[in-house]
Amino acid sequence: MRAHNLNFDWQYQPDFKEEYLLKDFDDKDFAKVNIPHTNLELPYNNFAESSYQFVSTYRKNITVTKEMLEKRLVLEFEGAAVFSEVFINGKFAFSHKGAYTKFGQEVNEFLEVGENVIAVKLDSTEREEIPPFGGVVDYLVYGGIYREVYLYEYEQNYIKMLHVHTEDVLTRKPKAIATVYLNQPAAGKDLTVWITDKAGAAIASQTITLGEDTTVSCKFDTPDIKLWDCENPNLYTITAKLENEKRSDRFGYREAVFKRKGFYLNGKLTKIRGLNRHQSFPYVGNAMPASAQIADADLCKFKLGLNLARTSHYPNSKHFLNRCDEIGLLVFTEIPGWQFVSKLPEWRQLVLQDVEDMIQTDYNHPSIILWGVRINESGDDGELYTKTNKLARELDPSRQTGGVRVIPFSQFLEDVYTTNDFTHSGKKPALLPKTINGGIGKPYLVTEHNGHMFPTKTYDYEGKRQSQALRHARVLDTAYRKNGTSGAIGWCMSDYNTHKDFGSGDKICYHGVTDMFRCNKMAAWTYASQSNDKPFLECSSNFEIGDHAGGKVGDVYFFTNVETIKVYKNDEYINTIDVKKACKKSKYKHLPHPIISFDDLIGNQLEVKEGFSKSKANRIKKFISLIFKHGTFGAIIRKPITAAISAMSMGITGITDIFGRYASTWGSEQNNYRFEGLIGDEVVASCQKGSINKKVLVVKPDTLKLNEGNTYDVARVEVNITSQYGNVLPYESGTLTVSADSGLEIIGPKNFAVIGGQRAFWVKTTGQTGNFKVTVESEELGTQTITFNVTKN
Ligand code: GAL
Repeated sequence: MRAHNLNFDWQYQPDFKEEYLLKDFDDKDFAKVNIPHTNLELPYNNFAESSYQFVSTYRKNITVTKEMLEKRLVLEFEGAAVFSEVFINGKFAFSHKGAYTKFGQEVNEFLEVGENVIAVKLDSTEREEIPPFGGVVDYLVYGGIYREVYLYEYEQNYIKMLHVHTEDVLTRKPKAIATVYLNQPAAGKDLTVWITDKAGAAIASQTITLGEDTTVSCKFDTPDIKLWDCENPNLYTITAKLENEKRSDRFGYREAVFKRKGFYLNGKLTKIRGLNRHQSFPYVGNAMPASAQIADADLCKFKLGLNLARTSHYPNSKHFLNRCDEIGLLVFTEIPGWQFVSKLPEWRQLVLQDVEDMIQTDYNHPSIILWGVRINESGDDGELYTKTNKLARELDPSRQTGGVRVIPFSQFLEDVYTTNDFTHSGKKPALLPKTINGGIGKPYLVTEHNGHMFPTKTYDYEGKRQSQALRHARVLDTAYRKNGTSGAIGWCMSDYNTHKDFGSGDKICYHGVTDMFRCNKMAAWTYASQSNDKPFLECSSNFEIGDHAGGKVGDVYFFTNVETIKVYKNDEYINTIDVKKACKKSKYKHLPHPIISFDDLIGNQLEVKEGFSKSKANRIKKFISLIFKHGTFGAIIRKPITAAISAMSMGITGITDIFGRYASTWGSEQNNYRFEGLIGDEVVASCQKGSINKKVLVVKPDTLKLNEGNTYDVARVEVNITSQYGNVLPYESGTLTVSADSGLEIIGPKNFAVIGGQRAFWVKTTGQTGNFKVTVESEELGTQTITFNVTKN
């Protein structure tokens, strides 16, 4: 097999006329574009979603040789939205309805030796016969040929598909079962199938002389394998070879099963801690190449410390899934749809087609542990969902089915009761009991929580950002506490553009734990602090009394996975917090790393500086901390006796004076807390909070290396405006101008304001190689330049 890359040099026109399909139509006035392509670049927010819903035309010239035409040529589109009609040399070749699954076929009969023209009439309107359309949808489908395109050159006999799953992996006789699908019978020929390990060494091999069947299965006994799991995502490669034709794919040995007691990965009860991911990005919607998909998987696993991502609400790019396989991030994937189930026969047929395409395409990913075969949050439709479940089980008996519901006791035709639970309102309880929600006696997984219940922006005031973080923590804590709940998948990874019926009126749902640019909100810390992979320490407050109603700062928390925190106030050591002890008092104690309160703002200061006895110091500082949190009146109500004793021993003026000097630190030269996080004796993380006296521009590229391979490449550059302590300034809105050397392009606007002190932009390769500079300029904070190295292969 040879793949001809068709991702560069398309001609694009944002409308359609019949004549555009003709081979000799002169398309010189069309725009030159590369794939992935969005049919219209959108603003960040405040736009009409009708703007990208139109019919457009893509044309691509390809040269076909005589030798190529002697082979079997398969044209394949990995994703185009929404209705694609493909013409070759003016003749209709094939069509596809649906934005999220690949499509294509053999096209020899349409091609000729020499120049050929592929033309795609792409309808990006919301056609009612195609899921998810027909009702309202809380996301945008966008338009464009937004995933890759290839022309594959095969021999006359070739391998159309290669599936592999594993069995008995927890016994001493683990097996791999491969199924090879041929394009036609190849009787008498030899088919060899083998498995190699990471080092490329063959661990098993079989040769079969083919008969008339086009589907061939073989079982491998592979005794000494290493399991695939989240910590050690060991991958193997399966290869099938028929004469000169070869097809390979990666897979992993693992057993993933939901039971009544919870989710078991390789026999080990594993709590799922996940987030939902929409695949959209600012400006270009879904049209982002491999590296951006990979970066999202890395964001989930390494920055947010998750063990699962749900590809809400449609199959995601192969690059995202491949990366999940590589890094050990579990995936719950599902068919396209949103709440609405149509009565149109074609729509319903497309649902079944989506089930089939999703499973056939993504079968080998060890990361996928569940097929979602119900339209997200739809009501019951026994007729349709009996079929989707049956089809999924026939196509892949090795995986369970789920189907995300939101109505308690709705019809259960799947293997796992996957349910959204938006009942948490900031107060207890955080999740419905399984019994009340219809999940009793069933494998049970909470697939969404929070989200629209508490939209939060990066520039919301501290209390609100903290509240979002704690709401996620409360639900997660409950999911950890409840035996029989497999885990919880929060809504959602990142903010996203949406339709007018949803979001904050500017076409954005601010439901993410990161914003649309993948920059953190405080809620990201809830997740990041749960992983053991790297030390994490953040404090919820910047201790600005004036940011809080009535000057009451409220509870302050640490998000951390360290063992000890040393506290310094204005650079003087004041206290050491034993995290384990603090965890015992935490309201989130079921989490792997409970979120703990910062109760003692004063530490040893009253003893050291005022000469108070320990008991007097403790009493007074408890009271002072309460005033800091809840105001004087709130403190008195909460602890009237402490208040009375404190007042008697020090007088009101004395307390006010102590409060001023040790808690609010009003009028002092500086007012900051520095926290050092230790594991053993080693400081492994730190953060510092306090008033700003200097703004800093921080430019953080995710990478400085770009590579043009099968498509152009992109890199994300995050820009923060921080305080001198490195904390993003949430109310900062300074403007920036970004520019790039000719070898790179900036995606989206070149002049923009930071949003809540942060933002990111993506640079994109243009076909040139070498070193190229990107400059970020702020009138106020100066200019910074970074240099990217672009290669090509
Ligand atoms: C759910 C839905 C999601 C998203 C979320 C917002 O009902 O499944 O797609 O809209 O609400 O919280």
